[in-house]
Amino acid sequence: MSEGHGYGKVILFNEHFVVHMIPAIASAIDKKTVATVRDSDKGEFVLSDDRPETPGYKKEKLSQQKDSLDRIFNTMDLANKKDSLELTLGGDLLCATGLGASAASCTATARALSDHFGLNYSLEEINNVAYEGEKGYHGTPSGLDNTAATYGGVIWFKRGDDGVMEKLNLKNPVEVVIANTGIVGDTTAAVSGVRERKEKYQEKYKKLFKSAEEMVFEARKALESGDIKRVGELMNENHTLLQGIEVSSKELDMLVGIARDNGAIGAKMTGGGLGGNILALTPGEELQEEVANAIESKGFSVIRTSVGV
Ligand code: MEV
Repeated sequence: MSEGHGYGKVILFNEHFVVHMIPAIASAIDKKTVATVRDSDKGEFVLSDDRPETPGYKKEKLSQQKDSLDRIFNTMDLANKKDSLELTLGGDLLCATGLGASAASCTATARALSDHFGLNYSLEEINNVAYEGEKGYHGTPSGLDNTAATYGGVIWFKRGDDGVMEKLNLKNPVEVVIANTGIVGDTTAAVSGVRERKEKYQEKYKKLFKSAEEMVFEARKALESGDIKRVGELMNENHTLLQGIEVSSKELDMLVGIARDNGAIGAKMTGGGLGGNILALTPGEELQEEVANAIESKGFSVIRTSVGV
């Protein structure tokens, strides 16, 4: 039996913009998916998916998950071994739009397979396999989610031939609240919608994309210097840009509003959007508790965690 893990993540700045070569900042969270691989004599590949989920998530993603697993086995040159294996997915990362669940499962599976077959993959190789697996879920991933899932920590990421991945050091970890709309968002549709509108409304999108690019450099400085108040303000502005490219939703905006009304110093949607989760910056356990309780009292589920651990 072999095991591998992949971290969940939140995006602090520039989901979607990152697909179009603009830098983004993401952070792994302390929740992960664990994959276990065992030999099996059932004569066919057996998948047991025991991960916790937003109701409907796993069913909705089932065919994408099959495609993703085929890509992982092919990339690792293990397609002919697949039918003699049993793969179990578990761990404490909730399957929900915005938390990097697909990337975490790709990374975890690549790690478990590498271990099972003694392939001794490096982190870079694991990340490459996870990236190929992510293509099964959303055709043209930027690579941000699988990179966060593989390496952990807080990362600065730019896609492309001049792509960059750097780990950022925060002065201190900061408490955050993640809140779930309970709606499964379709990341593929969200990404292709942005692409279409960017083509159609070129002037408007050019301005929004320029703001996103300028903002992320300032956000990096604020994060690295520990200016958390400024980070929060910039997260609010980032949410406005994401509304501008039409990937937020009324439920996401409502949760962002509750978080801000209850003292969060910044709040935004996180991940693919059109449902899924928001991220609220709530330094200190007291503020974190206040914001989390306020959201829970309206009937939404939350995760209390930290970024920059
Ligand atoms: C999804 O978690 C993040 C997106 O930017 C897509 C991607 O980066 O591939 C929406």
